[in-house]
Amino acid sequence: MKNYIKHDPWCVVEEGFYPEYNEITESLTSLGNGRMGQRGNFEEHFSGKTLLGNYVAGVFYPDKTRVGWWKNGYPRYFAKVLNACNWIGIDVKIDGETLDLGLCTVSEYSRVLNMKEGILERRFVATLSGGKQVRVHAQRFCSIADDEAGAIRYSVTALNFEGKITLTPFLDGDISNKDSNYGEKFWDEIRKETAFGEAYLEMRTKDTPFKTELFNVCTGMKFDISLNGEIVDFQCKPVKAEKYVACGTELPVKTGDEVVLYKYAVNLASLNHPTDQLLTHAKAYLQRISEKGFDQMKAEQIQAWAERWDKNDIVIEGDSDSRTDAAQQGIRFNIFQLEQTYTGEDDRLNIGPKGFTGEKYGGSTYWDTEAYCLPFYLATADQKVARNLLIYRHKHLQKAIENAANLGFKDGAALYPMVTMTGEECHNEWEITFEEIHRNGAIAYAIYDYIRHTGDEGYLAEYGLEVLIGIARFWAQRVNWSGDKQKYVMLGVTGPNEYENNVNNNFYTNYLAAWCLRYTLEGLNRHKAAVGALLQNIHFDFEVETAKWQHIVDNMYYPYDAERQVYLQQDGFLDKELLTVDDIAEHRPINQKWSWDRILRSCFIKQADVLQGLYFFEEDFDLDTIRRNFDFYEPMTVHESSLSPCVHVILAAKLGYKEKAYEMYLRTSRLDLDDYNNDTEDGLHITSMAGTWMSVIKGFAGMRIRNGALSFSPYLPDQWKGYSFRITFKGQVIRISVTPHHIEVENFSNQSVSFAVDGALIELDANGRKVLEIAQQK
Ligand code: BGC
Repeated sequence: MKNYIKHDPWCVVEEGFYPEYNEITESLTSLGNGRMGQRGNFEEHFSGKTLLGNYVAGVFYPDKTRVGWWKNGYPRYFAKVLNACNWIGIDVKIDGETLDLGLCTVSEYSRVLNMKEGILERRFVATLSGGKQVRVHAQRFCSIADDEAGAIRYSVTALNFEGKITLTPFLDGDISNKDSNYGEKFWDEIRKETAFGEAYLEMRTKDTPFKTELFNVCTGMKFDISLNGEIVDFQCKPVKAEKYVACGTELPVKTGDEVVLYKYAVNLASLNHPTDQLLTHAKAYLQRISEKGFDQMKAEQIQAWAERWDKNDIVIEGDSDSRTDAAQQGIRFNIFQLEQTYTGEDDRLNIGPKGFTGEKYGGSTYWDTEAYCLPFYLATADQKVARNLLIYRHKHLQKAIENAANLGFKDGAALYPMVTMTGEECHNEWEITFEEIHRNGAIAYAIYDYIRHTGDEGYLAEYGLEVLIGIARFWAQRVNWSGDKQKYVMLGVTGPNEYENNVNNNFYTNYLAAWCLRYTLEGLNRHKAAVGALLQNIHFDFEVETAKWQHIVDNMYYPYDAERQVYLQQDGFLDKELLTVDDIAEHRPINQKWSWDRILRSCFIKQADVLQGLYFFEEDFDLDTIRRNFDFYEPMTVHESSLSPCVHVILAAKLGYKEKAYEMYLRTSRLDLDDYNNDTEDGLHITSMAGTWMSVIKGFAGMRIRNGALSFSPYLPDQWKGYSFRITFKGQVIRISVTPHHIEVENFSNQSVSFAVDGALIELDANGRKVLEIAQQK
């Protein structure tokens, strides 16, 4: 764990220069607006450790698959999140010497991501080799109001010399992906243009045999310069090189002069604009935002973030010490990053495990979206945001059917990919690609989750059932009847715990499959008439298919140990040596210290597996069953997936294991800020951030939706003095504040709302407020 990030309730603060941690800080200070994202890289040249990253949402490259041993059914390419043209770059020279924090003496350094405003600032004093000193203050943001644009204010003050400051804002399209299978570059230059104070570079993704969409991205910049607060005329020397455009400017300065460069940039993708008009659109876009100017854009940015925080902030109160600031910073950091990654405006986009903060994990969409992220967007954003996540999968249904067909399934069975951009499978490790099929169930579960939260039952007939039937058909073909057990079994799977591969009867997968069949049957019975045309189109044999599904539901096999009264993660689990994580303290993380076979043979669990099932289907199990399973599995869980701790917080909170819940909460909320897993430099764990939010809302506050009704059973972690949050439910917004003495509930909508707190029904008039006494707390 690294503790160099200062605790602060609203900001991520690097105080003092930590070049050795630069890639970590770059991840932590990433900016995004749903359309584009930018790591916290320096504008000026830096010869030290850095991972440059600018990502344009939805733009990818199909990188030819690389595997040790080819297996039938492997996908031909892995669609990679694509590192695009560097739009932030500004080369700075002081009397000819390049400003490079890797080579000069740096003092008074700070890099601060202001999460309240969505603005990144950097300040420092640099002493160059000849002793000349400059003070630099850089500010930038990815605009929410103009979501294909970013703006930079870069100020240089001459502290102790008279001479020349050369500022060369540039666009560099000669970018490599760190994550590349064959070390190739993925971009071709299409055109470039320079003019006074502006420049454009249009790049296109390289053609491949895979026939996926090619993307053009036109990056443009326009800039102004001011001297001591006044916009000035300047000489501009255009530079053009391969995949590179720049404009060199030189200003004479006296001691104390401040030169400011305002750089406006756009990244327009052919995904959103006609390819032949990218350049024209880029020029018009830049003209518009540069006329608006930096200050106006910044004011709009602050306003946009204020509106977001109004809807989704979680406020934590405690002693006014650093511990409270750490908790507050943790939760806000998670919310901030989720908001930066996905806005729900576009149903072609999704939420990558690293969002716009790094390249690891390649493609954009995993089961993480449905299993972890959806609840956050359901409860903090307009209904269309979550709906678009569902529509995204609906649009990929045909690909999921093709994917299943490639693996030998038939008659419209759908297997959604483990990882994808376009709906096509990209993952290529057989034990995951072919076997980690539980992801299919998460997509069905998300439909259920969406409907119970929004009440949009119509979604089932409109889109949901089509997806559910495809998924149900898959499960019906994937199980087989065991003559021995006289039950349906599912062989050769990998559960959420990827530290077990190719197991038989993974409890979670079997349970989820049966649930999918049951839920689809229920939906079909409710909406049979409305989906008549669909059923005809997909040749649905109602009698035969539904009878088969019901038979599976009634006869599914679930491995169970009668002595311990726990569900078994899979057949044979009890043959393992049953140790606890305390027994292997010095061996952790086992994924870095043990051979793979040793991991597979061990009892150690990467992430919630049986417990994931008990979390999803909590209503189906009594508290004692949940407790026994938690007590059995949690001590064997190493949480080497960032998705793991949150499920444990939610269950531990339900079981009254407050210390455990808080321990796990800290682990998820500050995972990246404290670099717990030593991998923040690769990018942030965006999808698990929604788990942090769930830990508070579903964990400490006990939010549940049962039979269409909202309920809470909140408690206050001992470490806090209070917390409050807002929830959007069926279009209405309520706020819950929990303190040691009371729970305050407020209705922010113009209609009355009702919900339960600790089993008692609360009815609030429009804009009403009530204070519930402590007796009603746990
Ligand atoms: C986890 C998966 C997850 C993936 C992407 C893996 O380490 O085991 O459950 O989907 O990361 O976040």
